[in-house]
Amino acid sequence: MQGVTIPKHIAIIMDGNGRWAKKRMLPRSVGHKFGMERMVSLMEHAFDLGVEHITVYALSTENLQRPKDELEALFDLIRKNYREYLMPICQRGVRVRSVGNIALLPEDVQKILRDTEAETSQYEKKSINIAVCYGARDEIIRAVNSAVERGEKVTEKSFSSLLYTKDVPDPDLIIRTGKEVRLSNFLLYQAAYAELYFSKKMFPAFSDKDLDKAIVDFSLRTRRFGKTDEQL
Ligand code: IPE
Ligand code: IPE
Ligand code: MG
Repeated sequence: MQGVTIPKHIAIIMDGNGRWAKKRMLPRSVGHKFGMERMVSLMEHAFDLGVEHITVYALSTENLQRPKDELEALFDLIRKNYREYLMPICQRGVRVRSVGNIALLPEDVQKILRDTEAETSQYEKKSINIAVCYGARDEIIRAVNSAVERGEKVTEKSFSSLLYTKDVPDPDLIIRTGKEVRLSNFLLYQAAYAELYFSKKMFPAFSDKDLDKAIVDFSLRTRRFGKTDEQL
């Protein structure tokens, strides 16, 4: 995509798997499986374009209240496919991290996430960040509590280093699929100056071309960060 400014860090709220499946009379779990496959292809495409960091919202703290069978199906997807799907991307020099309170997951699922992190920890430049058991309020409260325990006042810089996303720059572009126009407790602190893009497509139907469209839209925006046009 010549002449287009590629965002360094894209974050995606991958919403709409359930509705995508329901419309096709399929179980929600099938929607999640297609969603995971779409996520992997979209990541490949984004790295091909020159994106350096990708953060995806896979499971929120609030999603943990969903029916047990849906959660089990999601955990099974991690058990069966996580490494197999992600490792080929990592081989191009991408580090995988999970961001969120993964202690809330079953032990064996935690281990898969931790092992994948360890196996890819040598890669420094590019990253995939999987937000799982993630809630921005939980993240902020934890950061505040750890600052209080240390008895230290925080600065913007030191506070960022207490967040789950401490090693990743703030997102430049946040995309939400699935029609809703809200953040649903995602990266509330980090999103301060992110450009927001909402797509009506359900996540399993959000194509590489749709990502290109979002990036072109991003590229046409003026990011002023509080300044005037003349100051830029
Ligand atoms: C997003 O899709 C994925 C997760 C929250 C795990 P949903 O499962 O929320 O799909 P809809 O919104 O019900 O269609
Ligand atoms: C947001 O989607 C969380 C993820 C995509 C993982 P939800 O489906 O949970 O959001 P709400 O409940 O519609 O706000
Ligand atoms: Mg949803």
